[in-house]
Amino acid sequence: MHPKILAIESSCDETSASVISNGKVLNNVIASQSVHSKYGGVVPELASRAHQQNIVHVVNEALASSGIKVSELDAVAFTKGPGLLGSLLVGVSFAKSIAIAENIPLIEVNHLQAHVLSHFIDEPKPSFPFLCLTVSGGHTQILLVEDHLAMKVIGETQDDAAGEAFDKAAKIMGLPYPGGPLIDKYAQEGDENAFSFPATSMPGLDFSFSGIKTAFLYFIRDQLAVDVDFVEKRRNDICASLQKHLVEMLMARLRKAGEDFNVKEIAIAGGVSANSGLRKAVETHGEKFGWNTYIPEFQYCTDNAAMIAIAAHYKFLNGDFATLEVSPLARMPLS
Ligand code: KG4
Ligand code: ZN
Repeated sequence: MHPKILAIESSCDETSASVISNGKVLNNVIASQSVHSKYGGVVPELASRAHQQNIVHVVNEALASSGIKVSELDAVAFTKGPGLLGSLLVGVSFAKSIAIAENIPLIEVNHLQAHVLSHFIDEPKPSFPFLCLTVSGGHTQILLVEDHLAMKVIGETQDDAAGEAFDKAAKIMGLPYPGGPLIDKYAQEGDENAFSFPATSMPGLDFSFSGIKTAFLYFIRDQLAVDVDFVEKRRNDICASLQKHLVEMLMARLRKAGEDFNVKEIAIAGGVSANSGLRKAVETHGEKFGWNTYIPEFQYCTDNAAMIAIAAHYKFLNGDFATLEVSPLARMPLS
């Protein structure tokens, strides 16, 4: 069996479609939504409307550039959750309509499982078991991955996600949403040792980012009281110091997970895995601790349908199909 599958991702603010044939991703069409930047975060109602506007165009482009006709598809896959309900509904409904029209099976995909499986799109692929630190705007977790479809959460954030910490800090500095990539950009020109922030202690492998958010807010407020131009004058140094701190918070847990589970196959995934400081830290740790490290290509870090397609491929081989009654889930556990 050489399944040809169309996959749709619409969980947050990216409308994306991808076609996969026999496990090979043929394309990854992404329409990003700029409508949210002036609001300082994703506005759910605007996101679902933008998905409705984008989806026909994005799916058509993915099909056209793959050279595969809709009538040749063996299945259609979609993100079931977790995500924004209104956004998910657009993808789920569109996938259902194709499944009905073409009389082909539906495949539901968990968005977080798909972020992990983005490591199976291209070489080199991690071998099992491996650890994956998934860091995005909505989630921060460390997973022990035993097989393509068997993974368990061994640590996760108890409050904000790492991406949220980047985005909220950026907002405090007056930068537009999403601020993570901007902090990364300014950090590259700054002194990462210019400022220090208090450590957060959490038991085991869990994370907490709400403390650093508050500490950062007070730090900026206090500095602005002394000099109203503080952020403007020291932006690069602030970004570099904050990024170093957030990256170290992530790496401390990843190191511990590697030790606790005696695993040296280490991957990162999700939007924040695009961060240059995190990518470098993972590589440096790899050299120091003898890890084999897996860092996704940029197009597969932030939300994309190629990762939904590769997850759907493994589910297809497993005969794991959804019914037409399936509904999206804003919160969705991994198993
Ligand atoms: O995985 P993703 O596209 O969406 C979710 O599933 O949440 O992740 C988006 C998050 C945002 O918080 C964004 O600021 C962050 O990833 N991000 C970054 C970088 N690129 C994206 N954070 C830090 N540095 C980056 N280069
Ligand atoms: Zn994501």
